[in-house]
Amino acid sequence: MQSPELQSKLESLVRVGVALSSVRDLDELLERILDEAMSLSSADGASLYLRKGEELEFHIAHNRSLEAKMGRTGMSLFYERFSMPISRQSMAGYCALTGKSLNFPDVQALPLDSGFQYNPSFDKRSGYFTHSMLTVPMSDRLGQCVGVLQLINSMDNGRITAFSPVSEMLVQAFAAQAGVALVNAQLDLDLKKAHQETLFRLSSAAEYRDKETSNHIKRMSHFSRILARDAGLTRDQVDMIFCSSPMHDVGKIGIPDHILQKPGKLTPEERVIMESHAVIGAHILKDSEVPVVRQAALVALTHHEKWDGTGYPRRLAGEAIPLEGRIVALADVYDALSSRRCYKEPWSEDRVQSFLVDQRGLHFDPALVDLFLAGMSEIRQIQSLYQDSDSDLEKLTDFSKIPIPEL
Ligand code: C2E
Ligand code: SIN
Ligand code: SIN
Ligand code: FE
Ligand code: FE
Repeated sequence: MQSPELQSKLESLVRVGVALSSVRDLDELLERILDEAMSLSSADGASLYLRKGEELEFHIAHNRSLEAKMGRTGMSLFYERFSMPISRQSMAGYCALTGKSLNFPDVQALPLDSGFQYNPSFDKRSGYFTHSMLTVPMSDRLGQCVGVLQLINSMDNGRITAFSPVSEMLVQAFAAQAGVALVNAQLDLDLKKAHQETLFRLSSAAEYRDKETSNHIKRMSHFSRILARDAGLTRDQVDMIFCSSPMHDVGKIGIPDHILQKPGKLTPEERVIMESHAVIGAHILKDSEVPVVRQAALVALTHHEKWDGTGYPRRLAGEAIPLEGRIVALADVYDALSSRRCYKEPWSEDRVQSFLVDQRGLHFDPALVDLFLAGMSEIRQIQSLYQDSDSDLEKLTDFSKIPIPEL
C-alpha cells in the first residue's frame, strides 16, 4: 500500500471510530461496520456474525460484484440466517474462540495443516468465487468476543489479491472499535427495552380494575406510532410517542370501581368524576426528569381534548392541543369504538370509519383522520396481531379464579 493511501486509510479509521459511537440503531450500526471494514481493506464482500452464547449468528453480508449484477434485494436472497458453534471447525469460530485473526490468500487452496475446510455452498448458489479471506474477531473492552467480521476478495485494480498485512492491521484496529460500539448499542437497546416494557406493564396495571385489556394499550400505542410516523415526525419523536401513549389512562387508577366498571351509561355526576382521570394522570406523571414521562403527562392531560374545543379538561381547540394529544385521541377512540367495553359492544369497522369521517374537524384533527384512513391496512394488521379474546375480557369477574402465573 502506498503511503498517501495508508495515510488516508488511517484517517478514515479514526473518523469512523468516532462516528460509530454515535450510531444508536443496531441494524444501522451493523451496516456501517460492514461497509467501513470493506472499504478499509478494499474487500469485494463481507459478512458479519454476532456472538450469541456459544454460537455465532450470521447477521448481514454484502458483496459488491454480485450486488452490481443483481441488486441488493436480489442478493439478499442468497443469504440465509444461520448459526455456527464457536469452535475450531470454522474460521469464524476459531477467531471467536482464540481472539486471533485468520488471513488466507486463497480459500480454494487452503494449506492442509490449517485444519479448515472452505464450505463452497455460497459460491455454488451464487456463482461467485471466493479466494482471499480475512476473518477478524470483534471484542469488547475486556477482550470478550462479541462478533466476527469476515472479508472476502481484496481487490486491487479489478484483480483479486491477498489481504495485505497492512489491511489486516487496519481491520483489526477497526474491529476493536466496532466491538465496543456494538456493546454500547446493545446496552442502549436493552435499556430502552427495559424502559418500554416497564411502561407497558405499569400501564396495563389498570387492566385489573378497568376491564380494558392490555391489548388495548398495545394496539393504541402502535396506532399512535403509525400516525406519528405518517405525520412526518422524526424517528425519536415517533419512538417517544410509542412509549408515552400507553400511559394515557393511568389516571383511571383514581376512579372508583362503581363508576369505572358501571355496565351502563354514566350519570352527569359520574361523568364529571370519570373525566377527572385526565387531570389525575397528569398529576401522577408530572415533573419527571425523564422526557418520555413528561410527554406521557402531557398526553394524559390532553387526550380527551377535541379539535373543535368541546373536549376536556381545558376545552383547548385546534393546534392549541399538543400534537401528541391529538394523535393519541384518535388512536384511543378508534380502538375504544372497535372494542368491547363494559358499557358497549364493539362497532363494525365501517361504522368506526364513518364516525371518524363525521368527526373529522370536530373531535379529531382533520389531517390526522386523513392519514389514519390512508393507513388502514397497517392498522388492521395491528388489530389482528393483538386481538382480545373472551378470556381476556372475562378474566377479572371472579377474583378467586385469577390463575397463578408460572415464574
Ligand atoms: P373508553 O371506553 O376507552 O373510551 C375512550 C373514548 O372513546 C371516549 O372518551 C369516547 O370519546 C370514545 N368512545 C368510546 N365509546 C364510545 C361510544 O360508544 N360512542 C362514542 N361516540 N364515543 C365513544 P370519553 O367519552 O371521554 O370517555 C372516557 C372514558 O370514560 C371511557 O374510556 C370509559 O372508561 C369511561 N366512559 C365513558 N362513557 C362511559 C359510559 O357510558 N359508561 C361507563 N361505564 N364508562 C364510560
Ligand atoms: C468460516 O469458516 O468462518 C466460514 C467461511 C466459509 O466457509 O464460508
Ligand atoms: C380508555 O379507557 O381506553 C380511553 C378512555 C380514555 O381515553 O379516557
Ligand atoms: Fe382516557
Ligand atoms: Fe384508552
